[in-house]
Amino acid sequence: MRILATLACSIVLAAAPAFSQQLAATPPMGWNSWNHFAGHVTDEDVRSAADTLVNTGMRDAGYIYVNVDDTWQGQRDAQGVLHPNDRFPDMKALADYVHTKGLKFGIYSSPGAKTCGGYAGSLDHEAEDAKMYAAWGVDFLKYDLCSFQSNMNKAKADHPNDPNAARDLMIAAYKKMGDALKATGRPIVYSLCQYGVDQPWKWGPSVGAQMWRTTDDIDDSYGRMVTIGFSQAGLSKYAGPGHWNDPDMLEVGNGKMTEDEYKTHMSLWVLLAAPLLAGNDLSKMTDTDKSILMNKDAIAIDQDLLGKQGDRLYQSGDLDVWTKPLSGGRVAVGLFNRSWDNRDVSVNLADIGFKNGANLRDVWKQQDLGHRKGVFTDTIPKHGVTLLIVSK
Ligand code: GLA
Repeated sequence: MRILATLACSIVLAAAPAFSQQLAATPPMGWNSWNHFAGHVTDEDVRSAADTLVNTGMRDAGYIYVNVDDTWQGQRDAQGVLHPNDRFPDMKALADYVHTKGLKFGIYSSPGAKTCGGYAGSLDHEAEDAKMYAAWGVDFLKYDLCSFQSNMNKAKADHPNDPNAARDLMIAAYKKMGDALKATGRPIVYSLCQYGVDQPWKWGPSVGAQMWRTTDDIDDSYGRMVTIGFSQAGLSKYAGPGHWNDPDMLEVGNGKMTEDEYKTHMSLWVLLAAPLLAGNDLSKMTDTDKSILMNKDAIAIDQDLLGKQGDRLYQSGDLDVWTKPLSGGRVAVGLFNRSWDNRDVSVNLADIGFKNGANLRDVWKQQDLGHRKGVFTDTIPKHGVTLLIVSK
């Protein structure tokens, strides 16, 4: 009985509904306006991001969603129809433009009356907003808790004896929009953003979501990025095809981290099978930014069809080793040095299933390191990483 119950539980954890598996078989990749443009984003910025995804080769590397974050909204009219503001003269035309580039179009709202930026949310307008998104040709919705937290606080106050009152209200609100999206008949990736409150990895699939934020916001600093990235330990069992943990969008290219720090960022995110949503001004990328965002081996680790999220193998002070199982019996390994000096970091290949040795490829050096046996050690610069693909 006990064994059966455990088995049933692991089956639930491993499989997302079939429509989710089709929509997001691998972690969604693209670009989102927030981390760089924040509240100033315009139609022109989004068109330019779409153009640049194509011109730089990012689209062909897998970055296909072009997502407008908060602050596109104007006013609701007397019929309840929400109109975009002056910075977005024609959302349907913008979506059409993005689609002509072979890309997909994403948008943003909140289950609350207001978004985090104070713009109109979808509270009590879920079905009509979902229909409007579908009519515009929206392919992705980020749904951000924001002001709905006050509805949750009220539920808590109104039901002091029900410890789940706020949580249940939030889940119902997320389900309402999930159902509304499904009812449109258009495949729309549903991305929950509620900062990891109440373990969305446990209920996200039940509201129709394909991904959910696991943490509060990232910013363009090494400290914040590693705090988020390394706190993802233990969540791997909740991810898989159609259901992904989202440690927030990328900051690569925004300028406040070093090259080694951005490589650590990208390495951690691909080991975590995280959605890869670039958050920089794509028109101002350096060759280094491009080489980090478009490293083919790194992207292949993230997008591996096995769909396994990686997890921590060892930790000793500021040194960490993380692994991610890949298809074909291969394993991706990240050797991380969070200290302020160069340090040696090692992995025993026997500990990751290669007792008789293995072939190693260094992802950032883009070099095959040949066949190695036993303990592999590399000297890693401060805040840096060596990312390996290990195969028989
Ligand atoms: C929250 C989200 C961010 C961004 C902003 C927009 O903070 O977590 O990712 O969407 O709102 O206001």
